[in-house]
Parts: sequence; structure tokens; C-alpha cells
Amino acid sequence: MPDIEISSSGGILSLVLNRPAKRNALTDAMYGTLADAFAHAESDRATRVILLAGEGESFTAGNDIADFVAVTSGTAAGQASGPGNVLRFLDALATCTLPLVSAAQGHAVGIGTTLLLHCDHVVLGESARLSTPFVNLALVPEAASSLLIPRRIGHPRAYAMFALAEIVTAEQAVAWGLANTVVPDTTLREAALDVAGRLAAQPREALAITKRLMRDTATIRARMDEENDAFMARLRSPEAMEAFTAFAERRKPDFSRFD
Ligand code: COA
Repeated sequence: MPDIEISSSGGILSLVLNRPAKRNALTDAMYGTLADAFAHAESDRATRVILLAGEGESFTAGNDIADFVAVTSGTAAGQASGPGNVLRFLDALATCTLPLVSAAQGHAVGIGTTLLLHCDHVVLGESARLSTPFVNLALVPEAASSLLIPRRIGHPRAYAMFALAEIVTAEQAVAWGLANTVVPDTTLREAALDVAGRLAAQPREALAITKRLMRDTATIRARMDEENDAFMARLRSPEAMEAFTAFAERRKPDFSRFD
């Protein structure tokens, strides 16, 4: 099975992360597939809504940490890919003109949470747990989340999410304005498809203009660029390498020797 399952029905393009054994951690190739699918959807009149979901117990554990190491350590694979596909996907999120619906259950880590900020309707399964543990990995926020999360939930809660990796439950996420509804995990996909179907029946141009008016795309892209510069610098730091090594060795990182 492919790592991203792509299907289309009734004007809804479904993009399902399908790497459950690795908690749907996103590889460079998966970002590339998603970016290509978004680009195709934008030019395909048959597509009216994009739905993002994940197979298995977690929506996604975020960026594949082995890919971080490949980029950092300058391996052939890392050099060939670099951050190109990730940046293409982030730009697709920032500029998407179609309604974007997501269905998330279990862990939604890093990009798994920050991509939700670019969705127009977010349905969570009751098992959903949102987290942005960038600082735990000696990294910094991405996907314009340093701008969008504080705007949605206020600085203190956003700072706790970033700096202390505090986890947000599905109920909190709805109460704080990060998601629309919480449903039982068993009906999650059905609930998201229902919303997507209702959006697919709405007039296309009115939806597109409404979305454009609601989003400051230029500011979001500018923040993504700023974050990316900082992110790439942090990715190559000794602290980040210690965090990635600790993850692979299933131990806590020790940042004390970098003081
Ligand atoms: N990158 C690469 N592999 C990952 C991964 C990631 N982000 N997240 C999970 N995996 C892999 C694990 O290494 C493990 O692989 P293995 O079975 O070959 O050893 C497998 O997925 C299952 O992970 P595990 O940690 O055993 O699952 P869990 O259900 O106990 O915990 C998480 C799930 C998401 C809490 C945990 O995997 C985790 O913290 N992942 C890292 C999240 C992260 O920091 N992401 C980057 C954000 S920028």
C-alpha cells in the first residue's frame, strides 16, 4: 500500500496518511505526494474539497525523525531531498483555495497539529492529542504556527505547547478554537466526510473568495519563510542531533553538555 492513499468521490479528494506502523510519520516522499496532490486538485475542476485523514491509531507523529537526520548529516538521500518537498507542502497549505477538511485521531504531533491550522474545518476523534514539541527536539515552530497558534489560543497556552510540549486534548482543542467538533473515533471519518460533502455542494467561487478574505496568505507565507530560516539553522545544531539520537535510542535527551 502507498504511504499516502489518494481517492476521489463526489468532488472530495481524500488524502489519507497510511504509514500506521510508524504512526504516519511524514517522510520527504510523503510531503512530495501531498504537495503534488494539492497542486493537481487546484487545477482539477472535478475536485471541490480536500479531506486529510490518517490510518491507524494516530493522525501523524509528525516529520519522520530519520529524515531530519538525513538532511542534517548530509547523506546522499538527505542532500538530494533537502527541505524542498516539505516547503512545497507548506506552501500548498498556505495558498490552498479549496475547502480543506481534516479528520484527526490519536497523536497529532508537530506538523500533525500545525497543518490543522490551515484547515477550514477540523473534526477530531475523542482520542486526539495535539502537540507541538519542537523545542523538545531543539527545533522551532513551523507552518506559521508561531503566528497562528498564539492568535487562536493566546500566548500563555501557545508558549506552553511550544516550550513545554504540553499536550492539548480533543475537548480542549475545540474549546480553544483549534477544532470544530469531537466525535467518537469510530465515526470520525464519516463525520468529516459529511462536512466535506456539504461543502462540495456549496457554490465553488463563493467558497474560494470567502476563504481568501478570511486568510492573510502573504503574512502566513512571510512567517513560514522566517520560521524556515530558523528551523534549518536549528536542524543542524548539536542539540538537535542529540535529540534525534536520543529518540532513536529511546532515551531522554541530555542538553546539559551544550551549555
Ligand atoms: N519519525 C520516525 N519514526 C517515528 C516517529 C517519527 N516522528 N514517530 C514514531 N515513529 C516510529 C517509532 O520509531 C516506532 O518505530 P519502530 O516500531 O520501528 O521502533 C514506531 O513509529 C511506533 O512508535 P512508538 O513510539 O512505539 O509509538 P507510541 O504509540 O508509543 O508513541 C508517539 C507515539 C507519537 C507519542 C511517539 O512515537 C513519538 O513521540 N514520536 C515522535 C514525535 C515527534 O517528536 N515528532 C516530530 C515532531 S517535529
